[in-house]
Amino acid sequence: MKTFSICLFLVVLILVHVPVCPAAGGSWSVLLPSIGISAMHMQLLPNDRVVMYDRTDFGTSNISLPNGKCRPNSTDCSAHSVEYDVGANTVRPLMVLTNVWCSSGTLMPDGTLIQTGGWDDGYRRVRSYKSCRTCDWKEIPNGLSKQRWYATNHLLPDGRQIIIGGRQAFNYEFYPKKSATENSPSFPFLVQTNDPNVENNLYPFVFLNPDGNLFVFANNRAILFDYSKNQVVKTYPTMPGGQPRSYPSTGSAVLLPLRIKRGKVDVVELLVCGGAPKGAFVNANNGKFDGALDTCGRIKISDANPQWVMETMPMARVMGDMLLLPNGHVLIINGASAGVAGWELGRNPILSPVTYTPDNQIGSRFEVQNPSTKPRVYHSTAVLLRDGRILVGGSNPHDKYVFTNVLYPTELSLEAFSPSYLESSSNALRPSIISPKTKTSIRYGKRVAITFTVSGPVDLNSITVTLVSPSFNTHSFSMNQRLLVLDSPNSTKAVGKSTYKIGVVAPPSGNIAPAGNYMLFVVHKDIPSPGIWVRIQR
Ligand SMILES: *[C@@H]1O[C@H](CO)[C@@H](O)[C@H](O)[C@H]1NC(C)=O
Ligand SMILES: *[C@@H]1O[C@H](CO)[C@@H](O)[C@H](O)[C@H]1NC(C)=O
Ligand SMILES: *[C@@H]1O[C@H](CO)[C@@H](O)[C@H](O)[C@H]1NC(C)=O
Repeated sequence: MKTFSICLFLVVLILVHVPVCPAAGGSWSVLLPSIGISAMHMQLLPNDRVVMYDRTDFGTSNISLPNGKCRPNSTDCSAHSVEYDVGANTVRPLMVLTNVWCSSGTLMPDGTLIQTGGWDDGYRRVRSYKSCRTCDWKEIPNGLSKQRWYATNHLLPDGRQIIIGGRQAFNYEFYPKKSATENSPSFPFLVQTNDPNVENNLYPFVFLNPDGNLFVFANNRAILFDYSKNQVVKTYPTMPGGQPRSYPSTGSAVLLPLRIKRGKVDVVELLVCGGAPKGAFVNANNGKFDGALDTCGRIKISDANPQWVMETMPMARVMGDMLLLPNGHVLIINGASAGVAGWELGRNPILSPVTYTPDNQIGSRFEVQNPSTKPRVYHSTAVLLRDGRILVGGSNPHDKYVFTNVLYPTELSLEAFSPSYLESSSNALRPSIISPKTKTSIRYGKRVAITFTVSGPVDLNSITVTLVSPSFNTHSFSMNQRLLVLDSPNSTKAVGKSTYKIGVVAPPSGNIAPAGNYMLFVVHKDIPSPGIWVRIQR
């Protein structure tokens, strides 16, 4: 805290706004002052483009559709989706045909984004986006059997995705369908966790457990669920305090890194942080903005008798995004310290991210990072990029684009947060992958030899190799997010000047890592290399 205030003082004194504060706090940069839309949903694609969209009934955005195009049956000729090119730092407008507002999605194994639902004419749409220089969205009318708005998607071991819930949708379905008549099994857990006045269980936190079941958290509790038999396998205790953590009391959640040893993951842990207390939604609608929750709950979901362990964050947060960093630490970013999710309902933005180091002793896991200058409240987003930066966009606290005379203007800008591991002081420790080349395919359980360089002194015992899935981010939750620490049974060897070789074993199965695209990082003393793309093939 002390270094931080001295830094701030220096900034004020020298009157510069480039990051002048070195060391443990990360840094921010504005990448583009306007991408034309408010990035309400984001997905990183395996060609280092990020597809983003807001909604079609917002009025005119700040970017036109290409070649004078207009949406069919609409006088709105502005774009509501863009593709961001990370390397070139440019955007290209895309055309969504129907309303994608508060929808969901998942990257499929072939690298196509399959996005589902939305509002109004978008309720039952399935849309696909496969990136290329001139590609655009394609839509499948009635691709869903039920209306889905505020649902959660997850990629499955069979290469399909499951789409769970949504407003007044207490059921789930799959895409693609095995047959035109494949039904939507009911899901009573979503009825049980639904407070009818508040609907405090939207965008449930869903994770594929390594035993093949789905772990589903909604409101203040969780189950392990066998979606193929429509059976609850296990019921977890309610989180102590019983406060809601799901939309609109929006907290967030991650599965902590899954460590694979001899073909198994022995310990599976979940971390849920932040949210807003019971009653906060009703209060916020009456102009009273309750303080957000400052607690996280951590639970070993793989235990025979799992119990929540509660921890306290350095500050309370609602609408924070939780992202897994390549080194297995967790970043909590964006959000506010009062109110709830929803238009005009959040207050006191939190500009400082916080990191969480899962393996530290309880009490010394959180570290406050340097702040941004831009509030990122409702409808803000964050995704991990292959170079280790966090792309941050969105914030749309009003039901139209509003740029003036409001507490928190609609944000069209795109920023990057660079965690402290990217600082140049770590360059000598930073691995750089020489082989395999990016876009390599790997097969379940097979050996992968990785050659990398480290220019400075190396500690061969602190090398790990991680795989991170590119997740779909909206409403403070990253769908399909997971990080695997690969098994490396043999020691790392020096094979030349500053050059080393490590043999790792690819994940054993689709339950542990559904087939598809992942970013692979070599991590040395918590400093990750730039990632490469690998594709796990079934
Ligand atoms: C809209 O885009 C233009 C550039 O195309 C930019 O100058 C302007 O600031 C943008 N408006 C907002 C509100 O970001
Ligand atoms: C445009 O409206 C017509 C007439 O209502 C309808 O038949 C058509 O499907 C609409 N097109 C789209 C893309 O929604
Ligand atoms: C570990 O070493 C053994 C013996 O040399 C070799 O057969 C095996 O493939 C190695 N495993 C990995 C993952 O590199």
